[in-house]
Amino acid sequence: MTNTASSPQRTLVLIKPDGVRRGLVGEVISRIEKKGYSISALRMLNADRNLLEEHYAEHKGKPFYEPLLEFMTSGPIVALIAQGERVIEGFRSLAGTTDPTVAAPGSIRGDLARDQGTRVVQNIVHGSDSVESAEREIRIFFPGL
Ligand code: RTP
Ligand code: MG
Repeated sequence: MTNTASSPQRTLVLIKPDGVRRGLVGEVISRIEKKGYSISALRMLNADRNLLEEHYAEHKGKPFYEPLLEFMTSGPIVALIAQGERVIEGFRSLAGTTDPTVAAPGSIRGDLARDQGTRVVQNIVHGSDSVESAEREIRIFFPGL
C-alpha cells in the first residue's frame, strides 16, 4: 500500500529575551499547544553572535540589524520546533504582525507586547516565514533534526 501521508510541516519558534525575562515561556508554549500544534524539540540557550548572524542573514545591513543582534544576545532565549499542518502560517497568525503596537488583540504580540521605545522592536517571538526558512533555521538551532 502506498503511504500518501507527508511528514508534518515544521517551523522554528524562538521566544526572544523579552519573553523569557517577562516569564512568558509557558504562555507562548501554551498557546502553541492549545492551537493543536505539537512541539517536537525544545531548548533554552544564550545565542551567540555568530549563530544570530546566520539566523538573521537576510536583515544584514538594515538599520535595525545591530540593535536586533544586541537585543537577541541580551539574555537567554528558548528555541523550539512546532509541527502540524500549515504550522508556518498558523504560528505567524498566532504571533501577530511584527509591530506589537498594532498587532491584533488575541495574538501573542497583540496581547503581550507593546512599543517600549527601544531601538529595535521587542516582540516576544520569532516564527519562520516559509518552508525554506523553517528548514534553514531548524538546521541552525537543532543541527541533525
Ligand atoms: P521574526 O522574524 O522575528 O518572526 O519577525 P518578523 O518576521 O515579523 O519580522 P522581520 O521583518 O523578519 O524582522 C525580524 C525582527 O527584527 C526586528 N525588527 N525591528 N523597524 C524595526 O524596528 C524592526 N523591523 C524588524 C523585530 O524584532 C522583528 O521581529
Ligand atoms: Mg522574520
